[in-house]
Amino acid sequence: MVRPFCSSSLLPLLLLVKGSFAEVTIYQTNNDQAAFATTASGASYTGVAAYNPSTLARPPLPTSSVLTTIPVNLQNAGTPNLSIKQKGSFFGFSIEMSVTNQVLGKNSSHIQVPFLNLMANIQQRAGSVMVRVGGNTQESAHLVATLPDDRILQKNLSGVTGTTQTPPLDYTPELLYLMRNISSLVNVHWFLGIPWFVTNPFDLGIVGPSQEILGDHLLGYQAANEPDQYSIPSHGHRTSDYSPVDYGAEFSSFLAQVDAAGLDPSGRVKSSLVGPNIANFAWSLEEVFDAGFLANFSDNLAYLAVEKYPRDNCDAAFGGPDAVVTDPQSVLPLYLTHDAHTKLLEPYLNSTLFAQTVNKEFLMFETNTASCGGFLGISDSFTAALWGLDYALQMAHSNFSGAMFHLGGQNVFYNPFTAPPTNQSTFRQWSVGPLYYSALIMAEAMGPSNNTQVRHYDDVEDLSPSTPIYGIYENGTPVRVAIVNYLDDPTGAHDVHAVIAIAGATMPAAVKVKYLAATSVVQKGNFTWAGQTFGGLFESDGRPMGTEDVKTVQCDVGAQTCTIDVPAPGFALVFLTDDAFTEDKGAPSMTFATTARTKTHNTASVDPALLATSNGNRMADHDLAGTSKPPNAALRTAQTSLLLALGLVLGTVVAMLGRGV
Ligand SMILES: *[C@@H]1O[C@H](CO)[C@@H](O)[C@H](O)[C@H]1NC(C)=O
Ligand SMILES: *[C@@H]1O[C@H](CO)[C@@H](O)[C@H](O)[C@H]1NC(C)=O
Ligand SMILES: *[C@@H]1O[C@H](CO)[C@@H](O)[C@H](O)[C@H]1NC(C)=O
Ligand SMILES: *[C@@H]1O[C@H](CO)[C@@H](O)[C@H](O)[C@H]1NC(C)=O
Ligand SMILES: *[C@@H]1O[C@H](CO)[C@@H](O)[C@H](O)[C@H]1NC(C)=O
Ligand SMILES: *[C@@H]1O[C@H](CO)[C@@H](O)[C@H](O)[C@H]1NC(C)=O
Ligand SMILES: *[C@@H]1O[C@H](CO)[C@@H](O)[C@H](O)[C@H]1NC(C)=O
Repeated sequence: MVRPFCSSSLLPLLLLVKGSFAEVTIYQTNNDQAAFATTASGASYTGVAAYNPSTLARPPLPTSSVLTTIPVNLQNAGTPNLSIKQKGSFFGFSIEMSVTNQVLGKNSSHIQVPFLNLMANIQQRAGSVMVRVGGNTQESAHLVATLPDDRILQKNLSGVTGTTQTPPLDYTPELLYLMRNISSLVNVHWFLGIPWFVTNPFDLGIVGPSQEILGDHLLGYQAANEPDQYSIPSHGHRTSDYSPVDYGAEFSSFLAQVDAAGLDPSGRVKSSLVGPNIANFAWSLEEVFDAGFLANFSDNLAYLAVEKYPRDNCDAAFGGPDAVVTDPQSVLPLYLTHDAHTKLLEPYLNSTLFAQTVNKEFLMFETNTASCGGFLGISDSFTAALWGLDYALQMAHSNFSGAMFHLGGQNVFYNPFTAPPTNQSTFRQWSVGPLYYSALIMAEAMGPSNNTQVRHYDDVEDLSPSTPIYGIYENGTPVRVAIVNYLDDPTGAHDVHAVIAIAGATMPAAVKVKYLAATSVVQKGNFTWAGQTFGGLFESDGRPMGTEDVKTVQCDVGAQTCTIDVPAPGFALVFLTDDAFTEDKGAPSMTFATTARTKTHNTASVDPALLATSNGNRMADHDLAGTSKPPNAALRTAQTSLLLALGLVLGTVVAMLGRGV
């Protein structure tokens, strides 16, 4: 049901910017994407995007033969072209500022416990988590002392303008206290953004309070969000000749205004900026650097960054008479090939090398499957879990130092995790999306040493882009191997058999392997990572459910190889040494054993037996164990809930410390 292309001579400006959209939060949705629903339940679905159950059809298998028995010949030392050293926090999150009250919490004393758990899972594996609060809505965000009804933020829907339909956002310092209190429970480090649409004068409201409240938990401030899109007509924030030189002048002006306002006595703000954050739309990085960006602002830049989505789905999100909505089925194969990542990242390789020469980390500040909310059946299926892992590993290989995957509200398909709609938060749990699995696994693949190097394995001729493989190194020695199988073949004929050998080392008698599994790339929800899952829609309190199942694979001592089978589809993380395994699970897990409640009853149910055996176990022994209301403890639960309702005093959220997994 693709709408016919309208070739009016008065082509709306919207068409001029196709493919150029930065991320946006969608406020007015349009259900065009649902027209492509293929399942019976989905075809009649009329709810918001984040909970659309529709699935696509399995993609076809390649017609040519695929190399499925793959020799993976690693070297114990001296491997050339390893990436720079990576941190466990490589895979972070970018949260659209306007939805922080749904995702982070209502205020500093009412934190969303599922969010804490989701972050704690990553902290356990990686040591820390990077979260950016911003996006399009940061550009018009205005700090106010108070808002009606004790809200911490409020969209001014009557102020909606432009094609991205982004309303101005008012927020209170309570949002910053909320972030600060989260950081005192889990090791989250934050990025914020300076509103940049209006520069004369800049709205500097965020600068002082964020320094004071977040202190060392703040990693940096984005100086402009995709400035190379400011001048496109529909955005209309700058004139058409707006250039990197003009952006540089604004950057200087910002520094001067911060000084004039006396907002940065320690100099910390002026050395914590992140730029140029371009979308490689109107400008290239080289043009920005050639315009003197680093020469002028090296001392001011804590990080270099870009933002990039492989494509957009804006026509489905915004509709309009000339919208040409993409059938997700037609683009599904583009998300199931390693070539997509090499092609997307190729333009950045010169700059990630350059960044090393100037000692700057280079970040992918905002990304996801497709801007304007992603694609139904792709962004919310197992496809995205494999795509996100391969993309993150390829970025690590390509000398990025981190990547933040974006999440918006209920009206998008691509959220790594989604809070229930506010008026359903008393009886619904969270929905954990495929990209959260990618995040968790990337944290494990990197580990907490800050010393991990990645290399995409391309030493075999005829290696299919459907089966990318990565070597992961500590101190130059391979410690883990990551294997992606994008193919979808229930017969088993396309299972990968990776035959791992390490020149210069004796192979162990056996290796441990963790699998990310689903029955098809189009499956939604209930994926498993080493046997554990976050369930389907509305089923997660942020803790993995089920018993961890790590496979032991015997190696061939005679041949000095270990052969790892990876189902089609699937992903395997192979731990080549016991150290590589224990390092990852060594950190104590910390979980928060209840959900933030807005009413005194919570009818969401999670099998307590599952919780008892999940990560951060032994919950069943504790008062706050039940997320459902146990029949014989109704009074006690009611009291607990009342206490939580009165303000989820942080001290009452007991951080349970136990040995992980
Ligand atoms: C990443 O940086 C390392 C160290 O400078 C270099 O050897 C390697 O070739 C780079 N990788 C890519 C893909 O540019
Ligand atoms: C909302 O936006 C409109 C239009 O820009 C403006 O006139 C109004 O003052 C704004 N309201 C608030 C509460 O900021
Ligand atoms: C949480 O934030 C409030 C301020 O809103 C503060 O009084 C309280 O001490 C904070 N708690 C923690 C644990 O930081
Ligand atoms: C690589 O980037 C540097 C710094 O921006 C630039 O001077 C150089 O011309 C670029 N090289 C190529 C081949 O684009
Ligand atoms: C929640 O709010 C939405 C939008 O206002 C409404 O359509 C829906 O019926 C409400 N759901 C419940 C359970 O109150
Ligand atoms: C890794 O780096 C982070 C951030 O720079 C730091 O807080 C942490 O202590 C480092 N971990 C190790 C093991 O050095
Ligand atoms: C925080 O939110 C909770 C739940 O809505 C409310 O009971 C409490 O009064 C709020 N605290 C503040 C300081 O606004």
